Amino acid sequence: MDLKVEFETHFGMAHTRWATHGIPNAVNSHPQRSDKGNEFVVIHNGIITNYKDLRKFLESKGYEFESETDTETIAKLIKYVFDNRETEDITFSTLVERVIQQLEGAFALVFKSIRYPGEAVATRRGSPLLIGVRSKYKLSTEQVPILYRTRTIENVKNICKTRMKRLDSSTCLHAVGDKAVEFFFASDASAIIEHTNRVIFLEDDDIAAVADGKLSIHRIQRSASDDPSRAIQTLQMELQQIMKGNFSAFMQKEIFEQPESVFNTMRGRVNFESNTVLLGGLKDHLKEIRRCRRLIVIGCGTSYHAAVATRQVLEELTELPVMVELASDFLDRNTPVFRDDVCFFISQSGETADTLLALRYCKDRRALTVGVTNTVGSSISRETDCGVHINAGPEIGVASTKVEGTACSPSGRAWAGGPEARVPGYPPSSGVDAAGSRSVHGLELIKEVLSLDEQIHDLALELYTQRSLLVMGRGYNYATCLEGALKIKEITYMHSEGILAGELKHGPLALIDKQMPVIMVIMKDPCFAKCQNALQQVTARQGRPIVLCSQDDTESSKFAYRAISLPRTVDCLQGVLSVIPLQLLSFHLAVLRGYDVDFPRNLAKSVTVE
Ligand code: AGP
Repeated sequence: MDLKVEFETHFGMAHTRWATHGIPNAVNSHPQRSDKGNEFVVIHNGIITNYKDLRKFLESKGYEFESETDTETIAKLIKYVFDNRETEDITFSTLVERVIQQLEGAFALVFKSIRYPGEAVATRRGSPLLIGVRSKYKLSTEQVPILYRTRTIENVKNICKTRMKRLDSSTCLHAVGDKAVEFFFASDASAIIEHTNRVIFLEDDDIAAVADGKLSIHRIQRSASDDPSRAIQTLQMELQQIMKGNFSAFMQKEIFEQPESVFNTMRGRVNFESNTVLLGGLKDHLKEIRRCRRLIVIGCGTSYHAAVATRQVLEELTELPVMVELASDFLDRNTPVFRDDVCFFISQSGETADTLLALRYCKDRRALTVGVTNTVGSSISRETDCGVHINAGPEIGVASTKVEGTACSPSGRAWAGGPEARVPGYPPSSGVDAAGSRSVHGLELIKEVLSLDEQIHDLALELYTQRSLLVMGRGYNYATCLEGALKIKEITYMHSEGILAGELKHGPLALIDKQMPVIMVIMKDPCFAKCQNALQQVTARQGRPIVLCSQDDTESSKFAYRAISLPRTVDCLQGVLSVIPLQLLSFHLAVLRGYDVDFPRNLAKSVTVE
């Protein structure tokens, strides 16, 4: 969801809405308004959890609601605060300050009002919000100082006057000599990158006001840990990175970008001579990481699968107990967390509400927190003690592909081992042939798997009318199955389940018959014999397994209804390769079923609501 505001002498407001309340229709879409005269309008990304109480209160005061949204309460509330103001010269940002003190939940908001022409006010809590800055002229400052105020109502009149004066001074960001400057408010950098790569990331409860082309940032109170200013940062993102190019969908482009994204994440981190990985973002916390008693890896959806994919190597490298957790479940259980735990938070967007809440929960318990994200400046990257930037480049398709692949690549996996990790299997041990040694670079192998696209398309032609698809495997490839099944259900709307092959006889076997398509991931790793066992059980029930197997595996292909052969690499990285056919398969299935691959129904790229 993106909020976008543009002004100098012009102002525009747009919003792509992911419904938390009410069906998608005109009356529920944003901006929401305070009244039929549009005195105050607001756009919102997030969810207001106390909206029912607010709505009841406002209705009791005579305010009439027209939509089913939680957001409308915000528009009505600001009008209520305005209607009940104690002074005529109350500022727009003071109104917003008072409104957000009443709100619970998560929000990024942009307000506009006919009462305050030439002004707009934006704020956030829990949902991301950044300000793009564009001007041909020199700017008054690169660091916007925060303006603080006390909250006492008695002081409001004086404060309002003081603020008016202060805004004329160098406390605002503007172009020198009253020249033109544009400000863009957005939830995500990709929404504004075609206009500017210079951005300011707002913190929770910051209130940013633009009046007469000048930007000021306010907070109600100052706390000891506050940064007293917000710096303009320059993003490395290129416009071309968020364009489809010759591909028919972003998801397809992103699947095919995996050789580069894996290379980019290794750049400057992997030393191919010593077979070590150095992660600069963790090195200052090396002592604490080495001292810890337990590792907890937390994420949602695909990021959780990246955590599952990493668990085994993490255990092997550290010999510590490792818990892998879905953020929402972790919070539901009030999981015990201690000061000597190290908690990793994996997130492509760095803004996922459940993951962010889990992070805050762990911080409150004084654990060391480590972010593994793909978004510089995101809430998770800012709020963790240290971290690793995945560096996979922007990912636009709602279905995450290249970020998961990259997070599981050599340097991605090395975050598991601490700042200076040796990736197991490097140099490749016996049992891994020359192809294995190429795995250090990995890129050729990824390209080789991508070249199977046509073969996967043919498979999709056979499967696209099915209602269900099972994906089965074990060991290092269990995560591949979970992720493959998620991709399939997410964009094809087929039922799909990732099944641990070891669990087959404990239930899922009942699903097997000659109608049910089963994809089995069987690699030449320590689980090979056990996977053969599962394969036999499937064929014995007349199942027709589609097997993803190693190129040198003649055994599995004998029993397979169809076999797709993959190049072999070291066990802990095999998932980086074996997930690609499942990503491609989900893509082709979705296209054949006539669905919009990049924007699956009911889903959002950044899930900033709980
Ligand atoms: C992946 O294809 C999904 N869109 C979804 O599961 C996603 O991975 C999840 O919402 C977590 O997002 P994050 O990585 O941005 O935290």
